[in-house]
Amino acid sequence: MHEEIMDLKGNIRVFVRLRPVLEGISRDIPHPDDFSDIYTHFSFPDSTTRRQHIHVQHDPKVTPLCRSGEKRQKVEKFKFDRVYTPRDKQEDVGKEVSMLVTSVINGFCVCALAYGQTGSGKTYTMEGVIPRAVEKILKDTREKKGWKYTVKVKFIEIYNNTIRDLLQNSSDSDSKDLRSKILSSKEKRQNHFTVEEQSNGFTDVAEIAPLAVTTMSQFRKTMGIAASNRHVAATSMNAHSSRSHAIYRIYVNGEDSEGKRSTNGVMDLVDLAGSENIKMSGVDGAREKEAKMINLSLSTLSTAIRYLSYKQQESKGLKISKDAIPQCPSFRNSVLTQFLKGTLSGKNCKALLIINISPEDKSIGQTLASLKFGMAASGGKVVVKEYSLKK
Ligand SMILES: Nc1ncnc2c1ncn2[C@@H]1O[C@H](COP(=O)(O)OP(=O)(O)OP(=O)(O)O)[C@@H](O)[C@H]1O
Ligand SMILES: [Mg+2]
Repeated sequence: MHEEIMDLKGNIRVFVRLRPVLEGISRDIPHPDDFSDIYTHFSFPDSTTRRQHIHVQHDPKVTPLCRSGEKRQKVEKFKFDRVYTPRDKQEDVGKEVSMLVTSVINGFCVCALAYGQTGSGKTYTMEGVIPRAVEKILKDTREKKGWKYTVKVKFIEIYNNTIRDLLQNSSDSDSKDLRSKILSSKEKRQNHFTVEEQSNGFTDVAEIAPLAVTTMSQFRKTMGIAASNRHVAATSMNAHSSRSHAIYRIYVNGEDSEGKRSTNGVMDLVDLAGSENIKMSGVDGAREKEAKMINLSLSTLSTAIRYLSYKQQESKGLKISKDAIPQCPSFRNSVLTQFLKGTLSGKNCKALLIINISPEDKSIGQTLASLKFGMAASGGKVVVKEYSLKK
């Protein structure tokens, strides 16, 4: 019954979260790329608390489409599976994502990805989502009658197109042992792995052993270690910018008490590195190389997601115009898509895209690009209205 409901909702679901304006940041930070009289206004027209619509009003001078000199206003209207306002809390987002946990326990693969420009709140969102998902998995598997489960986790990062084990192959969840696994910067550079595709199409890194987790306190230790081992750096857009993609993979294997049936569910919770405009985030040298790698892997991922969405619409018999058909992706083009292929594109897979957006005026170009990507992934259409303002 649960799977039927989730199927009706679609195999790729898209949520959008607008973060609040951060304290100490004015809405109009001067920047060389800024236009002088840009303003952006977001509105949420749903009267219900379970919002699905977001309208973005902006001065179209910011887009190359309209530079007539005439004072104009543009409103772009988007509809998603769920929209979160700056007032929505971590538990609101976490609760909804945790609904997918039931699918994982039933043996499905789920991939939840936080996507968006640098500084838009991806890491913040996943820090709220991951513990809630793990808590629900531990609770529900403990309570399910007639079944016995094991829950194991792997935490990896993909940095400059190479995989690193953020838990450093810990096979023991004893706190002292885990704490000693925090990597030195030399180890961070040496720790490389490759993705293998199994005969059933599932993709994984066999050399990294998953770690059994039975309690939330063990889980919190894994999160603490992974956070210290992850690559972050300060850019002009985000003081703690993630310079890698981080993937928290949870394996939920169940067997019924008679040993007749078994399920193997997997959940990937992905905190992507930020898509960024290299000029705006003020990076050069090694940071610029990181940014190029990040942008390349994100464009491969977005091609893959657009294609999966197209396939989903096609399978539902929806008509798609020829020029809207995306190119067929090559998952091998980046390590990120190689690793996620198994949870994104298999038969028993469900994907959730959480598009994070920033409220600042200077981010409007990337905000609209992210929302349009979300629209393409969900198979919807943007409604655009343009007004001429009387002086
Ligand atoms: N919904 C929110 N409520 C309050 N603060 C938030 C929210 N979302 C993000 N922030 C804050 O905004 C800042 C940037 O967020 P975060 O580091 O999560 O961005 P990011 O998308 O992961 O960026 P990057 O791609 O550079 O890693 C952080 O200080 C974070 O605490
Ligand atoms: Mg981040």
